[in-house]
Amino acid sequence: MDKFVIHGGKKLEGEVVISGSKNAALALMPATLLASGKYRFENIPDLRDITTMSKLLEMMGVEIEKRSHTMELNTFRVSKLEAPYEQVKKMRASIYVLGPLIARYGYAKVSLPGGCAWGPRPVNLHIEGIQKLGAKIEIDKGYIIAKAKRLKAAKITFDISSVGATGNILMAAVLAKGTTTIENAAIEPEIIALAEFLVRMGARINGIGTTRLEIEGVDALNPSDDVMIPDRIEAGTFLVAAAITGGSITLNGCNPNHLTAIITKLQETGSLVTIGKTWIKIKAHRTIKPVDVTTSVFPGFPTDMQAQWIALMSIAKGSSVITDTIYFDRFKHVPELARLGADIEQDRNTAITKGVKKLIGAKVMSTDLRASASLVLAGLVAEGKTEVLRIYHLDRGYEHIEKKLHSLGANIRRVSGKEY
Ligand code: EPZ
Repeated sequence: MDKFVIHGGKKLEGEVVISGSKNAALALMPATLLASGKYRFENIPDLRDITTMSKLLEMMGVEIEKRSHTMELNTFRVSKLEAPYEQVKKMRASIYVLGPLIARYGYAKVSLPGGCAWGPRPVNLHIEGIQKLGAKIEIDKGYIIAKAKRLKAAKITFDISSVGATGNILMAAVLAKGTTTIENAAIEPEIIALAEFLVRMGARINGIGTTRLEIEGVDALNPSDDVMIPDRIEAGTFLVAAAITGGSITLNGCNPNHLTAIITKLQETGSLVTIGKTWIKIKAHRTIKPVDVTTSVFPGFPTDMQAQWIALMSIAKGSSVITDTIYFDRFKHVPELARLGADIEQDRNTAITKGVKKLIGAKVMSTDLRASASLVLAGLVAEGKTEVLRIYHLDRGYEHIEKKLHSLGANIRRVSGKEY
């Protein structure tokens, strides 16, 4: 398992290109199960999660070719309508095959995802939604087994906003008979990208971008191509990297409209942020003002930036309160940041962070994707050497992050090894 060795203290300067969105690609790739044919996706990021989704689809019979950031998929020979535990346990987003399989083939056998690094992650909204669309569901030995002759339209209201459940039910409803409505649908940019892709395939969806979707089912869809939207969480992570190191960087190839909450909060800390159509420039202030954050669904401050924000607040000039309303137990980074000298008191889903004068480098352990990002950010500013272990977590969702950080002046290198 690889580790990063970081010598902190360098201000990041320069320009960085943001990669395609992991979470958009993880939704659009399974959507190709909805129609046989050839698809071409551009701006696909080079990530472990993308490889995991590719392997799962290939096990089903999808032929996939990836050359640099272009992916070609051929779904003519889909034959296996199953997502086995061995694959699903690696990545929860595998459950995205459930909707398309039951809608197009009338059958799906998908492993329950189980927990993840920071606790249980239920899929009841996915299952209940598919049931409401008329599928017969049984849970057998850890598998969801869904059957349906043809799905029938339904009125579906999500008690809580769920990105994955919205995506799954949307992909099921596009081939259901009749008009389905989804109330309290997620409006994250990745869901909007999925809905727009489905429309390009011939789906009839009204209300895209709102929490009320109306889907008029069609008998069949056709393949289409797409270009992935930029990854807003990678972009937010680099903005924080500039702020925490007191640097000044420009992000190219991003969509500032997807980052309004993060930009506003960074401006409140004292950073100067200017934006263009596809770029964001940030110039950090010498001191970081403490700024409270409460995560919420889009367009609020994303839970996927909570860990990175705590890292930034750990060296702010004062105390701040960070509350995660999406996941109540997504704080595995807190004890690791404490090893670097951060002063954070966690109480249930809130972390009170008292800024310290400086962090001191140490060995720290990655536990999940965004937690490891926060450890890298802290290492960039900690005095001396920080070793971030088990960075396979990072490789799930950040494309060559050490190369991008190094190009901005960070003293960071990847060390391959066994025991880390
Ligand atoms: C997506 O996960 C993202 N993953 C996550 O990003 C992100 O943290 C999350 O949305 C929230 O924005 C992908 O898009 C692949 P949810 P998802 O369903 O769809 C509860 C990353 O770092 N819930 O919106 O799994 C759930 O427990 C990853 O890239 C149910 O109770 O998240 C949570 O509290 C990590 N029942 C809340 O809803 C369900 O059936 C939001 O979860 C489904 C969800």
